[in-house]
Amino acid sequence: MNYTEKVMDHFINPRNVGKLETYNAIGEVGNASCGDIIKLYILINSENVIEDISFQTFGCGAAIATSSMTTEMVKGKHIDEALNVTKDQVAEELGGLPANKMHCSNLAADALHKAIADYKAQNGIK
Ligand code: FES
Repeated sequence: MNYTEKVMDHFINPRNVGKLETYNAIGEVGNASCGDIIKLYILINSENVIEDISFQTFGCGAAIATSSMTTEMVKGKHIDEALNVTKDQVAEELGGLPANKMHCSNLAADALHKAIADYKAQNGIK
């Protein structure tokens, strides 16, 4: 299986790993077929901007690399802008993923959407 250098870099040196000390949104999703799980912790400020974000992923290398890249791509973005980030963009930023690993990038994007949806619901934002 061929991973790009960028995928290997984010897999070996993942950014924003662990649990934030302060957060106000969590998104957790699992993939039923492989059993992998990702949890995103997000701190959203009063301007609805993602001030900080981290992740914990129990999964394959591609899941870890896409989680890491997703956190980098949305940090500092308004939540509405962050919602426009798709799994395909994350894969593209990583220089591509092998076809049989594309599904792994669903996890981070889904967790991001879930966390922001929960935050919006909690704060009465439409
Ligand atoms: Fe499960 Fe990649 S094999 S997320």
